[in-house]
Amino acid sequence: MLKQWGQTADFACHLTVDRSDPSWKGHTGVVGALFKKPDVSMEIDNTIVFICGPPVMFRFVLKDLKDMGFEDRNMVSTLERYMKCGVGKCGHCCIGVAYVCSDGPVFTLEQIRRLGEDI
Ligand code: FES
Repeated sequence: MLKQWGQTADFACHLTVDRSDPSWKGHTGVVGALFKKPDVSMEIDNTIVFICGPPVMFRFVLKDLKDMGFEDRNMVSTLERYMKCGVGKCGHCCIGVAYVCSDGPVFTLEQIRRLGEDI
């Protein structure tokens, strides 16, 4: 899939890994450092960013993107919560008035802030 994305017109796919081995030819480092590479450019007004990963990663990435000028509505992230029922009945995954299991788990940063999530 990543190879297909890399070959898709009008679509940029940049990869990074935290730790590499000698076979890795791409970028090594955290995602935020990838944004600062000269060969990685984004048209901020014409780009929607999708982020998936552990909270410690996406919190830093969202801050970096915000600092770059991205609007909250153009940053989309997954949220992780302890889920029990998975169908919006038990309330274990609530943030504000939303259930991560049934209303998400994918939200824009605009929605996340409106729900009162500290991000
Ligand atoms: S896991 Fe039960 S309401 Fe979401």
